[in-house]
Amino acid sequence: TQTPLVILNFKTYLESTGEKALQLARALEQVAEETGVNMVAAPQGADLWRLSQEVKIPVLAQHIDPVDAGGHTGSMLIECAKEAGASGTLINHSEQRMQLADIDTVISKVTAADMISVVCTNNVETSAAAAALKPDFVAIEPPELIGSGIPVSQAEPEIVEGSVAAIKDINPNVRVLCGAGISTGDDMKAALELGSEGVLLASGIILASDPKQALLDLVSKI
Ligand code: G3P
Repeated sequence: TQTPLVILNFKTYLESTGEKALQLARALEQVAEETGVNMVAAPQGADLWRLSQEVKIPVLAQHIDPVDAGGHTGSMLIECAKEAGASGTLINHSEQRMQLADIDTVISKVTAADMISVVCTNNVETSAAAAALKPDFVAIEPPELIGSGIPVSQAEPEIVEGSVAAIKDINPNVRVLCGAGISTGDDMKAALELGSEGVLLASGIILASDPKQALLDLVSKI
């Protein structure tokens, strides 16, 4: 078994933007060093370069567009994310949904670039569909629980368990994460017990009065 993984999605909170993104990434790095748990930061595109230069933990993009180099003003190009230091990217986050064919295109680009793909899904069926596209990770996040403070691992354990089963059935090499409302050590422990190999989370850490302490609590029971 591999060490559990924690991916912190910085989203577009002011508390995880610019200078504060750097502080948060440093907290992730310290907790990774102190606990041995794998910590990953997913900041906004404009913060990728700074974070990848300043911290040793892996940094992911939040989104990459299904475009080739050329005329696509405003898009996130995979080559640019890679040069900015991204080790991979979230794909199809609930707040940045994509069409199936575009998800497939981005996974192929990410794999060809030797980067890590983390496809977000909303239920058992879409988790199975995503697994068929051979990403590195599928992260199941029921949208109604995102930002709610109600942990998926306790509110909808059957979605996590069902997704793990469906994903492993289609492709046992795909690793499974879960997210939405996760913030405490109990939430993370429950997520791992349901067969998830880590968590994708945001507000419970980013909006905590002491994010480093919140991270230490998150990994305290694994
Ligand atoms: O990508 C993580 C996410 O959507 C969950 O958000 O705030 O419920 O941890 P949150």
